[in-house]
Amino acid sequence: MKTYRVAVIAGDGIGQEVIPAGIKVLEAAGARFGFQFEWTYFPWGSDYYFEHGAMMAADALDQLRPLDAIYLGAVGDPRLQDNVTLNGLLLPIRRTFDQYACVRPAVLYAGARSPLAGKQAGAIDFIVVRENTEGEYAQIGGNLYTGSADEVAIQTAVFTRHGTERVIRFAFELARKRGKKGLLTSVSKANAQGYSMAFWDRVFAEVSRDYPDIRTESLLVDAACMDLVRRPESFDVMVASNLFGDILTDLSAIITGSLGLAPSANLNPEKKYPSMFEPVHGSAPDIAGRGLANPLATILAGAMMLEHLGEAEAARQVEETVAKVLAAGRTLTPDLGGTAKTDEVGAAVSAQVED
Ligand code: NAD
Ligand code: IPM
Ligand code: MN
Repeated sequence: MKTYRVAVIAGDGIGQEVIPAGIKVLEAAGARFGFQFEWTYFPWGSDYYFEHGAMMAADALDQLRPLDAIYLGAVGDPRLQDNVTLNGLLLPIRRTFDQYACVRPAVLYAGARSPLAGKQAGAIDFIVVRENTEGEYAQIGGNLYTGSADEVAIQTAVFTRHGTERVIRFAFELARKRGKKGLLTSVSKANAQGYSMAFWDRVFAEVSRDYPDIRTESLLVDAACMDLVRRPESFDVMVASNLFGDILTDLSAIITGSLGLAPSANLNPEKKYPSMFEPVHGSAPDIAGRGLANPLATILAGAMMLEHLGEAEAARQVEETVAKVLAAGRTLTPDLGGTAKTDEVGAAVSAQVED
């Protein structure tokens, strides 16, 4: 039987709750469609840090490299500085495995309620492609005279032609493959960032010449935020830098009803390295440990993993089942107005996937 070797990093907070639900659903998909998983569980995260002084093992990346994919919950603990936790785990994985295309769909499902008035199910249906290895997240900079009145902090953004062009090209290909509106929206900020973002716009214009069948639009990021609220129906595929894509995707998540519904795929499209699948949300310390977390984002990220592994039919089945459970409205977590617990939602989806 086809066996996929997947790394599991549940991580911190609600990561520990949503990942078991996701695994249950993926196991059910395997049982139905005739493949199986060999899970390798890694105890990395903030508790690991308190014990070992590092977020993951020294040879963590070598342990992950041979595997087919990585399934990640969330990382972040209020007792630790976020730059320690995230630069010790999540961000090095994205960079080392060249997961340059971060794909974040935003779909308004029947049964989920958008905080925007009058939005019908299906009206919002777009994908944000976020550059995931450089830009504002390049760890280049430093502090001088730390803690003094003369302190200086420098954080440099890095935009390479290679990095910018490939993610824009990926987004054009995706707009073509989706076959929906045939529209790609580039989000940038050249009016303020005359070097990096003007460069981004220039590369976008250049690459667009190879895709005459795809309409293009270029928005400033502030206006794009407004338009995500004003006219979310109009978008198809959006492409943005690392930081802008991060910000846009919390917004795109909430306009579809909940951060707990938004999945994310960190793709190395060439499949030279494992790709990583996770929810858009974080460790949510405010609700952790109480079964309140919505596992659907993680389950949908699992469906994206199935798609990436070549199990398209199973992926579709998982997504359709999530849509059905949402539409039925009987087993929903509190963020969607229900009273169900995390594991009850996971069980409802996995039971129906296997049926
Ligand atoms: P968050 O995404 O963890 O939570 C934001 C809000 O959304 C909270 O009110 C939370 O309760 C709610 N929420 C999030 N996921 C939910 C779910 N599945 N179901 C129901 N409600 C949900 O963002 P934050 O509070 O800004 O960050 C908390 C920690 O997580 C920080 O340490 C941050 O750095 C980290 N973080 C990690 C990742 C990641 O590992 N990929 C992503 C984002 C934030
Ligand atoms: C996300 C998260 C991360 C990011 C943080 C935790 C570094 O917010 O995946 O959206 O900004 O990429
Ligand atoms: Mn984010």
